[in-house]
Amino acid sequence: MNIPPINLKAQFKLVQKDLLKNIKEILTEQKLILGQYCSRLEDTIAQYVGVPSAISCANGTDALILALMALGIKEGDEVITTPYTFFATASSVVLMGAKPVFVDIDKESMNIDPGLIEGAITPKTKAIIAVHLFGKLCDMDRILAISKKYGIPVVEDIAQSLGSRNDQGMSGSFGDIAALSFYPTKNLGGIGEGGMVLSRRGDLGEKARKLRVHGMGSVSYLHEMVGINSRLDEIKACALVVKFPHLEAWNRKRIENARFYNKKLKDLPVLLPHIGDDLSYIAHQYVIRVQERDRLQEFLKQKGIATGIYYPLPLHLQPCFAYLGYKKGDCPIAEEAALTSLALPIYPELKKTEKDYIVASVKEFFNRTS
Ligand SMILES: Cc1ncc(COP(=O)(O)O)c(C=O)c1O
Repeated sequence: MNIPPINLKAQFKLVQKDLLKNIKEILTEQKLILGQYCSRLEDTIAQYVGVPSAISCANGTDALILALMALGIKEGDEVITTPYTFFATASSVVLMGAKPVFVDIDKESMNIDPGLIEGAITPKTKAIIAVHLFGKLCDMDRILAISKKYGIPVVEDIAQSLGSRNDQGMSGSFGDIAALSFYPTKNLGGIGEGGMVLSRRGDLGEKARKLRVHGMGSVSYLHEMVGINSRLDEIKACALVVKFPHLEAWNRKRIENARFYNKKLKDLPVLLPHIGDDLSYIAHQYVIRVQERDRLQEFLKQKGIATGIYYPLPLHLQPCFAYLGYKKGDCPIAEEAALTSLALPIYPELKKTEKDYIVASVKEFFNRTS
């Protein structure tokens, strides 16, 4: 068998007819940037997440940059976040001239440990970035309580968590502002790069909307602030509009796959993700932790099963952040996760035979080595 890490061709087949028709129409009309599909996408996602402001942009990294710019993050500021995330969560802080302050993760959720945030707050702390990693909601009750106590705004990085929620709301609706990615492998993935800023605060939404087009408001070539060029193409927005109606079903399928793995792998010497009865984890990635990670990955590769390592080196130990002065042992749980994490294929189109084969192969690895 040959099982890829993701099956984008199957997704394309599902939306192909509508998408190609709409692309032809866009090309005929030649309204190529920030047109009706961008507006529709913004309205659709704003409504889904439950916030008033949604601003499409070029990618998720820009969404983080725009969010931090809207909050006024600048040189000398500190921003607290997790070291166990994709690079852009912290590089966006550095690009603002500010300093990322890393605190360790919680062992079970693999998200920032809220119990460590207060100890990292200084007079320079100007934001907390909460990343809902692998599609699992952070402990927002505790993070928001800290935010309120100290008057520090919260940025949610929802690149991996569109649709995860608890009884108080959707990821992206809790913090002051949120950054979303439509990178093709995300739960709602586009046909190229794409991103969005979301905010429950009208003032921040309005600012981000201007910052996306060089700080211009409604008057052309009148620049109220210095922004960037980070617009979304109509063709890409159109693909997301056409795919969006499938998101909930895809997320449920992913959760179903994750539950299947958890049930079948529970007796093995691996740490499995916690999956509750709710939708707080939408299984963007299904990550197990295993001591012999590299050997298991190689074994599965020989079996034709693609796996991923998210992430092999935590951000506090990245060479480009050496100037921040972190050393090995500063965030031990993140460091352990980096050595033991392995993501199994979890995409919605996985067939039962493929899941059975993956489970059988993982079991075979442990049977051979025990
Ligand atoms: C947690 C997280 N933050 C930010 C990003 C950046 O998004 P993009 O790749 O669209 O710039 C990603 C995407 O990989 C991500 O996973």
